[in-house]
Amino acid sequence: MSVPGTYTQAWESFWRDAPPSDGAVFWDADASLTAALQVPLFEPYFDAGLPVVDFGCGNGTQTRYLAERYDRVVGVDLSAAAIEHARRADPHGIAEYQQFNGADAAVARRLHAEMGDANVYMRGVLHQCEPADREPLIEGIAILLGERGRVFAVELAAAAKGLLLGLAQAPGGPPPKLGAVFAHGLTPGEVADEDVPGYFAAAGLELLAGGEQPLRTTEFHPDGTRIELPSKWLVAGAGDQARPGSTEV
Ligand SMILES: C[S@@+](CC[C@H](N)C(=O)[O-])C[C@H]1O[C@@H](n2cnc3c(N)ncnc32)[C@H](O)[C@@H]1O
Repeated sequence: MSVPGTYTQAWESFWRDAPPSDGAVFWDADASLTAALQVPLFEPYFDAGLPVVDFGCGNGTQTRYLAERYDRVVGVDLSAAAIEHARRADPHGIAEYQQFNGADAAVARRLHAEMGDANVYMRGVLHQCEPADREPLIEGIAILLGERGRVFAVELAAAAKGLLLGLAQAPGGPPPKLGAVFAHGLTPGEVADEDVPGYFAAAGLELLAGGEQPLRTTEFHPDGTRIELPSKWLVAGAGDQARPGSTEV
């Protein structure tokens, strides 16, 4: 795990300044446009009896949707301010939340000891964590999965970076919610496409399925169309698991 540094501080200040209202954060699209469209991709692979960890849950928009489908859902995030947002937005406590550095193997082991094997949902975290934490982060996920869990991960594709740069350099400046991301020193889209499967393989995880699905944002182009970022998803699990009719890898 890297020494707590710029990314930790950037995330803390980002979430401290983020408004609590629905859709106020650039990537925070409603679950009907996000997790609901991803469920068919991962549901055939997830053992529905296992708890689900939303890894890097942010303000918990997708966590709450997952908690409507699975008995036990735990949202974890590096940022204490993000966890505060998530708890406030879930007054009935349909999910649980923990401040958690996913790159800390000891913390992952403690959570695994408490909850047993879990499935993991991760949206847009690998490309937005401390670069030195990328490998430990996926190792942390492998600990949470144990033998039976599977991970669904969706990350920005390299093609998203050009789109983001174009938006950042627009004559009138970037769309305000994207501007807030850059203003906090966060630099989305830095992970090369070909590196992502390698992080999972290095953690001993086997790729079971994968494909492309855009990440819908809450901002719009001048022509009124929603800004969508090219993204890639995958499902992976511990080495020798059976495949339920795999697709698209
Ligand atoms: C782009 S946001 C995505 C939030 C959420 N997954 C969503 O789709 O709305 C990335 C999140 O990852 C969290 N994060 C970054 N590094 C992390 C780490 N090492 N452990 C846990 N969370 C981390 C950040 O605090 C941030 O909330």
